[in-house]
Amino acid sequence: MGRDSLSIDLAGLRLRNPIVLAAGTHGTVDEIGELVDLSRVGAVVTKSITVEAREGNPGVRVVPLRVGMLNAVGLANPGLDGFLREYGARIAGVACPVIGSIAGFSMEEYVEVAKAFEALEAMAAVELNVSCPNVHGGLEFGVDPAALRELVGAVRRELKTTRLIVKLSPIVVGNPGMVEVARAAIEGMGEDGGPNGRAGADALTISNTVPGMKIDIETGEPVLSNGSGGLSGPAIHPIVVKLVYDVERGIARETGTPIIGLGGVSSWRDAAEMMIAGATAVGMGTGTMGDARSVGRVVRGLERWRAVGSRQ
Ligand SMILES: Cc1cc2nc3c(=O)[nH]c(=O)nc-3n(C[C@H](O)[C@H](O)[C@H](O)COP(=O)(O)O)c2cc1C
Repeated sequence: MGRDSLSIDLAGLRLRNPIVLAAGTHGTVDEIGELVDLSRVGAVVTKSITVEAREGNPGVRVVPLRVGMLNAVGLANPGLDGFLREYGARIAGVACPVIGSIAGFSMEEYVEVAKAFEALEAMAAVELNVSCPNVHGGLEFGVDPAALRELVGAVRRELKTTRLIVKLSPIVVGNPGMVEVARAAIEGMGEDGGPNGRAGADALTISNTVPGMKIDIETGEPVLSNGSGGLSGPAIHPIVVKLVYDVERGIARETGTPIIGLGGVSSWRDAAEMMIAGATAVGMGTGTMGDARSVGRVVRGLERWRAVGSRQ
């Protein structure tokens, strides 16, 4: 089994293996390259970029837990101009495809960053982080199918050559349900566009962090200065496996929409489980923050797993 045995097609994007380094957990673009050989991963996602630079939340932003991590970083990032200045030219030199993550608090903000990313030829795809509250409606775009449809439609119009990945929030339980949110992301506003001639997302990432809180029993106060935050790591793996399973069978398969399964993967077994659930690619975030070498172990483990599978 050679090194290419794990290569995948993600909505027309060729990745050397399914492992995608997740947004916000590896520096702004490729800083993790000092610890991880990026020529051995499928792709890396940038920190989510907003129009204006953001300092993020003050005080305690990250809490390590037995079961993973809670964070309320608050989208700290250099802003669009700072990003283009510091990283624009560097993207072409990164040893794996770079996916540009976009965050915003209005549709206009997402569209502005999307236009700039479309103009960056080396940017392999964009990923919309829709776990942000919409200043106009208050709700997160990711839990409001009507707002999400509109947002995806507006961004799609700007992306003539760049693939669009929509990263969903995991908190959609009951009505409208994860499949309905995924449908909104895939269908957009119904106007075909982009390199694959699709009206909405070319691919989905499932998912972002799960809301959580840690309270200090001595003070009775939340440990994160923000109060609550996003839970990531091993605790969310079974939640995400189910979301991937449901969305793949509920809408992704029939629409030919690949899924990046992201949540709590730190071993090749976790990654394999995600792929069996229906993911084409597998994201890693908290797992590599704790141990950068886990990326290499996961890739080698998947290679062996595939080799055994192909002999049976
Ligand atoms: C410290 C930290 C910062 C993050 N920043 C972002 C971000 O900027 N944009 C985004 O879409 N997701 C962000 N995430 C979420 C991760 O990309 C990922 O969806 C989540 O952590 C679940 O995967 P994991 O369990 O493998 O970490 C962040 C997660 C952590 C732990």
